[in-house]
Amino acid sequence: MLKKKIFIFNKIPDAGLKMLESKYEFSKSPKGVEGILCLLTDKIDSKIMDQAGDQLKVISNYAVGYNNIDVESASKRNIMVTNTPGVLTNTVAEHAIGLILSIAQRIPEADRFVRAGKFKGWEPMLLLGADLRGKTLGIIGMGRIGQSVAKIAQSGFGMEIIYYDKFKNDKYKFAPIKKILKKADFISLHVPLLPSTRHLIGRKELGLMKKTACLINTSRGPVINEKALVKALRKKQIAGAALDVFENEPKLSPGLKKLDNIVLTPHIASASVETRDKMAVMAAQNLIDALEGKKPKNLVN
Ligand code: GLV
Ligand code: GLV
Repeated sequence: MLKKKIFIFNKIPDAGLKMLESKYEFSKSPKGVEGILCLLTDKIDSKIMDQAGDQLKVISNYAVGYNNIDVESASKRNIMVTNTPGVLTNTVAEHAIGLILSIAQRIPEADRFVRAGKFKGWEPMLLLGADLRGKTLGIIGMGRIGQSVAKIAQSGFGMEIIYYDKFKNDKYKFAPIKKILKKADFISLHVPLLPSTRHLIGRKELGLMKKTACLINTSRGPVINEKALVKALRKKQIAGAALDVFENEPKLSPGLKKLDNIVLTPHIASASVETRDKMAVMAAQNLIDALEGKKPKNLVN
């Protein structure tokens, strides 16, 4: 029997590839395939869908965020779009917490300091950071990841949690975004990238934040107006920022790298060995289900 053809944009962990290898023929281009497996860095627009052709049934995204796919165009063509929610929740939350600790205790800055040979002995005022206990963590976007961050921060560090989301959560204190900006000592973003969340944090919002506050982003880069953030950090309008995602990845806005009050990681919040394997299995299973006529578990359209 002729094997169905699929196109894989980029290598994913073997755990997922193995599931697909035996069943399908890996095509060298999207043309004529029934399934596509893509990364968050692959822009899947109507052009690619046209190039693939009418037989295309499924686009399986190896990510929870699927702003890289034109879902509306896919739906119009009866193409299923799937993502990988759930399996990466705790891993991303742990990274967000890691970033909060890094910026609060100035760990990367301190590491640079030691490596540069500047450590000349203990000093009462050397590299003073901020405590987390008793501080307010504002979470914008209280989905799975936001809730996981809230739980760790509250039970582990004794932080006060306030959150904003369209959906109410009984466990934590709701606040409008403006209030979060004004009140929180740390603000962590966990919204999907949508037209309504693009530049959710810009000049005006940064201007409302406390001078001592830090902004953390593990969601999608364009949620923050990066240029405005560079300005705010340069002027010390806010104390710091920790970013895992950037507005024009992998490019950084001019001036970003030069700042000392910022921690930068290269979009690795979900990058644990275990989680990347689980994402690969999930993305492969979604694709297999769709091609075998079953409804994939993680259908987004
Ligand atoms: C990672 O950024 C994801 O959306 O899975
Ligand atoms: C994404 O998985 C979220 O719900 O935060």
